[in-house]
Amino acid sequence: MDEKKLQELLKLLQMNNGDLSKLNEQQRKEMKDYKFWKTQPVASFDEDIKTEGPIDKAKKPEDIPASPLPLLNEFEWSTIDINNQTELEDVFLLLNENYVEDKDAAFRFNYTKDFFNWALKAPGWKEEWHVGVRVKKSGKLIAFISAIPITLKLRENTIKSVEINFLCIHKQLRAKRLAPVLIKEITRRVNRHNIWQALYTAGTVLPSPVSTCRYTHRPLNWSKLYDVGFTDLPPNQTKTDMLAHFALPKTNKVAGLRPMEPKDIEEAYKLFEKYQSRFDLVQLFTKEEFSHWFLGNVDENKQEKDLEKKIVFSYVVEDSKSGKLTDFFSFYSLPFTILNHPGHSELGIGYLYYYATDADFSFEDRFSNDATAALRKRLDELIGDAIILAKNVKMDVFNALTSQDNTLFLEDLKFAPGDGFLNFYIFNYRAFPITGGLKENKAYDPEKRSNIGVVML
Ligand SMILES: CC(C)(COP(=O)(O)OP(=O)(O)OC[C@H]1O[C@@H](n2cnc3c(N)ncnc32)[C@H](O)[C@@H]1OP(=O)(O)O)[C@@H](O)C(=O)NCCC(=O)NCCS
Repeated sequence: MDEKKLQELLKLLQMNNGDLSKLNEQQRKEMKDYKFWKTQPVASFDEDIKTEGPIDKAKKPEDIPASPLPLLNEFEWSTIDINNQTELEDVFLLLNENYVEDKDAAFRFNYTKDFFNWALKAPGWKEEWHVGVRVKKSGKLIAFISAIPITLKLRENTIKSVEINFLCIHKQLRAKRLAPVLIKEITRRVNRHNIWQALYTAGTVLPSPVSTCRYTHRPLNWSKLYDVGFTDLPPNQTKTDMLAHFALPKTNKVAGLRPMEPKDIEEAYKLFEKYQSRFDLVQLFTKEEFSHWFLGNVDENKQEKDLEKKIVFSYVVEDSKSGKLTDFFSFYSLPFTILNHPGHSELGIGYLYYYATDADFSFEDRFSNDATAALRKRLDELIGDAIILAKNVKMDVFNALTSQDNTLFLEDLKFAPGDGFLNFYIFNYRAFPITGGLKENKAYDPEKRSNIGVVML
């Protein structure tokens, strides 16, 4: 594959447009140059962290102003009612057109109503946490930021928190210091509810990541990626070679694999909780949240009819003898629209989400050779089937991070490392670093793996 083209593809595929790989140490901004972030309760890059915990502990909800921050005269705050079709469309238009930088304007994210209903209407969601900015005169939505409530667990500490996502400013209004205003406003709205920590991710390096993971990509439909110009033929290779290299069987391998159903929630939840407990940073799901995130929040009947429009795909493995659920995995769909191409109008993209397996539960030390081998074998089978399923619902490429235990299967299953990195941040919290599945040289680290057990959309 032509490395430059591939990198272009990989860059487009990451929602956050990370530039970390391009920055060497000298080019990286110093703390003093972060005019906004240096005023916020976040750890600085060189901080010698002695204990983990909140940075600013003094504030109470009653100390927080009741009214929004001032905006320039031509703009106004607009709380988005995502149950209102027109307002929801405003949000996905803004995001579809401005979330990803693509200088040739050849591809756009294709966020849909169903995607937002799933991503933003998590249990406990609040309308006031869907924050927009509009142009007063025209009513045009030009910026957005959102929060959903979550419970984080960082090692021994449980942290009532929010997850911040979908920060977006219209392309024509960039570099005008609007992002800090949005961030401060969502902080205010969250603080009013007595919540003082937030989980967020960005490709951009900000003070200070608790972990950094790398994007990886597994071509599913190589010829389409080639047709739309995402992929070039590497020298000394033929199309046939590439097709053979990335070929996948049509049917799944794992016996007892089937779509997860409401009746599985109880057992899958237990398996999932047990598996997740190995990681340092996880989101603690309630059963209701588990059901929301893995069964989806869209009309069941519609989902059944139109698999290709489905947002989240969850599968379980049921042992035929015992009837017990031994494994679970999920992935979600967030396609691109392809503009101005005669043959193709959409690029299907699957993202690995959460999974769990009992494959290494019987071992005392999960990092022992035997435990590692058992888990690796099982994940190769499970995620191997996930990518087949993704391909069968017309996804063209499958993305994963180096988080969770992913470094065990990435190479085996032909995921190529991307040039994008995803940094994890916790607002108003000092934390010791968490492994992100990467070695010093940014290659996969199958030995230490990752202790990031949370996946953000
Ligand atoms: C990210 C985005 C909102 C930043 O807006 P902008 O107009 O470039 O930046 P502004 O002038 O408003 O603000 C700059 C400040 O925001 C910070 N910032 C930039 N991107 C940020 C991010 N993703 N998260 C938090 N802060 C960010 C900058 O570091 C800077 O603060 P500093 O002076 O302390 O360094 C905008 O580039 C955008 O919409 N990008 C496309 C969508 C996207 O990538 N969203 C982020 C997902 S994590």
